[in-house]
Amino acid sequence: MKKRHESPDIDWAHIPFGYIKTDYNVRCAYTNGEWGEIAVSDSETVDLHIAATSLHYGQEIFEGQKAFRGVDGKIRIFRPEENAKRIIESAKGLNMVPLPAERFVEMMEMVVRLNERFVPPYESGSSFYLRPLEIGTTARVGVRAADDYLFILFGTPVGPYFPDGFKPTKVVIYREYDRAAPCGTGRWKVGGNYAGGLVATMRAKREGYSAVLFLDPKEKKYIDECGAANFFAIKGNKYITPKSNCILPSITNMSMQQIARDMGLEVECRPIPPKELREVDEAAECGTAAVASPISEVYDSDNDVHYVIAKDGKPGPVTTAIYEKLRAIQYGREPDVYGWMHEVKL
Ligand code: PLP
Ligand code: COI
Repeated sequence: MKKRHESPDIDWAHIPFGYIKTDYNVRCAYTNGEWGEIAVSDSETVDLHIAATSLHYGQEIFEGQKAFRGVDGKIRIFRPEENAKRIIESAKGLNMVPLPAERFVEMMEMVVRLNERFVPPYESGSSFYLRPLEIGTTARVGVRAADDYLFILFGTPVGPYFPDGFKPTKVVIYREYDRAAPCGTGRWKVGGNYAGGLVATMRAKREGYSAVLFLDPKEKKYIDECGAANFFAIKGNKYITPKSNCILPSITNMSMQQIARDMGLEVECRPIPPKELREVDEAAECGTAAVASPISEVYDSDNDVHYVIAKDGKPGPVTTAIYEKLRAIQYGREPDVYGWMHEVKL
């Protein structure tokens, strides 16, 4: 299909984190024991059997990553190889057939190239969000894994995940909800985890919080993560972040840990009890969509305790420095010393 070039009528600096239609998506089907050719589509819908395992038994996994138009005009995707590895783990977790990593990266590059006109300009501060997903497509009524799968990858231009951008927000702990079970699917990027967290998430939004801070589902003793992002805190010279097998291994968090080490901070990945929030200097949610979103306060609703972290309501200096450094690498303002940026040749 022909790549289109005219510039879309979009106010790039003011787009939300939402869906904007682009020109093309790419798809790859697994049938008869093998992955087929990558197909380019201009349709926004899928034709799915009413008994497909993804519709009934939740065989659905996804990913999220961003491509950035750099200061030099080049387009680069942030660490797509890590998303490729993670979705392979998610596939294994739901007994699905994993897409080979090279094919995943190729599909990401194709979506960027085909929709280049939707990759926001450098100056806007917006980016191009890439959403890969895989679903089981075999018709089944008995509970069994599918034999056939469909992998789809689309992209859409996005602005900040939280409407106020890099401004501290409040998060809340509710012990009556979990997003995933102990030894369950929390470590994979499975649609069901988000469905499981929706009642809590929608309640948090109604009550004025940006997110739920979930505790470990086994003992409710330690902080796990937010509904759509990991958690980290700055305590003196330490970057502390939860260790748990119920949280998604965040690529942003992993990258920020590297940046923190290079800034001379010590990184501790360990269980963090909510009470320790009294002793932290800064805290944030981190993820592809959230980047680093500072937390001003954690409200422990069951114990009616307010852990006020950003007393002046401003982002802390360490979180700000880590955020700025990551952004500078992603937009090509600073050398990519870690080899994180994957250039898409146009
Ligand atoms: N945790 C959850 C539940 C998420 O949905 C996300 C978003 O992808 C993250 C953490 C952050 O992961 P990453 O930094 O790889 O985007
Ligand atoms: C991401 O950060 O990429 C996410 O997937 C979070 C959310 C939008 C589900």
